[in-house]
Amino acid sequence: MIENTPKLFIPGPTEVDDRVRIAMAQRVIGHRTKEMTELYGGIVEKMQKLFNTDHYVFVFTSSGSAVMEGTIRNLAEKDVLHGACGAFSKRWYEMSLANEKNADLVWADWGKAVKPEMIADAMEKKKYELLAQIHNETSTGVKNPTDEIAKIAHENDTLIAIDTVSSLGGDMIDVNKYDVVIASSQKALALPPGLAVAIVSEEAMEKSKKTRNKGYYFDFVRMLKRFEKSQQHPTTPSVPLLYAMDVQLDIMLEEGMQARYERHLKMREIVHNWVKKRGFELFAEKGYESVTVTTITNTYGISIKELNEELVRRGLRISNGYGELKEKTFRIAHMGQLTPTDIMGLLDTIDEILEAKGVY
Ligand SMILES: Cc1ncc(COP(=O)(O)O)c(C=O)c1O
Repeated sequence: MIENTPKLFIPGPTEVDDRVRIAMAQRVIGHRTKEMTELYGGIVEKMQKLFNTDHYVFVFTSSGSAVMEGTIRNLAEKDVLHGACGAFSKRWYEMSLANEKNADLVWADWGKAVKPEMIADAMEKKKYELLAQIHNETSTGVKNPTDEIAKIAHENDTLIAIDTVSSLGGDMIDVNKYDVVIASSQKALALPPGLAVAIVSEEAMEKSKKTRNKGYYFDFVRMLKRFEKSQQHPTTPSVPLLYAMDVQLDIMLEEGMQARYERHLKMREIVHNWVKKRGFELFAEKGYESVTVTTITNTYGISIKELNEELVRRGLRISNGYGELKEKTFRIAHMGQLTPTDIMGLLDTIDEILEAKGVY
C-alpha cells in the first residue's frame, strides 16, 4: 500500500472525495446486465443535466488524449486546423500529423491565447473540416476565448472540437456551442484517471457517419448504436471507475455547476492576490487566465524542485513548469474538490518555506 501521499495541488490527477473512492470498492457487475444499463444510462443522464445539454455524451475507458485522437479521426478525413498555445495543444496537432491528416497550426506563443482573428485569417485562406481548439492550456495556465472562436468556425462551415481536459467541471463552459467537448476524469471532474468524456453534437454525429478510416474503439457512431440499443458500451468499460463517476456526478449536481464555478473563481482570486502580494508574476496573458490552474513566473529564480520537496515533506504537492518552462514557472492547480481554505493553507505553507529561505 502507498501511504502518506501528499494532497494534490497539481493539474491532474486531483483530489478524490472519500465517497467516490469507497464507491470503487463495490462488487464488479457484468457489462451486459440491467445493472450496467442503469449505471451507464444514469451517468449519461446526470452529465446532460449537469452541463445542461441534449448533446450525446460518451464515456470512454481511456485517458483524454485517446479521445482527442479519436475526435480527429471521427471528424476529419483530410483537413484539420489546430489552434494551439502550449504543450498539450501542440501535441494534439502532432496527433493529426501522426494520423496523416493535412494539419495546419495557428500558434499563439507560450503564455498567449489564440485570438478569434487568428482563426478567422486561417479559415479565409483554406477550408477545414475540423478546428481542434484548446480551451484551457494546462502548461501555460491560459484560457482561450473559445466561444468567439466557435462562432467563426461555424460561420466557415467547420466543426469545432475543444479540449477541456483540465477545465470541464471547474470553469463554466456552454457545451452546446461546440461539436465535441473532450475531458479527462482526473482533473476538474475530480475522479481517478482512466475515463474520458466526449460531448458530441448532432452535426458531429452526421459527419462521423460519413467519415472513412475512423478506427473502431473511438467511433462515435458505434458508441451511439450500442447506447441506443441497451445504454451500454460496445466493449467492456472500467466498472469501478463508472461507480466512481456516478457518485461524483451526484456530488457535483448537489453543489450545482454555478456554485462550483464560483468556488473555482474564488480559489483563482486567492492565488492571483498572493502572486501579486509576494512579487511573483502571472505567466498567462492578462485577461486570459485559466480558472482552474495558475502558472506563475519564477521571478526569484528559486529551485522549484526544492520547494516542492519541502512541500511534500509537509503533505502538499504543487507542479513545476511544463517542458521547457520547467524551472522558469511553477503551477498551482485550484480545481476539482479543493476549497478556498485548502488553497490558503497551501499558500501559507509556501510562504513559510520561502521566508525561512530568505526569499522574501
Ligand atoms: C489540456 C490537456 N489536454 C490533454 C491532456 C492529456 O490528457 P490525458 O493525460 O488524460 O490523456 C492534458 C493532461 O494533462 C491536458 O492538461
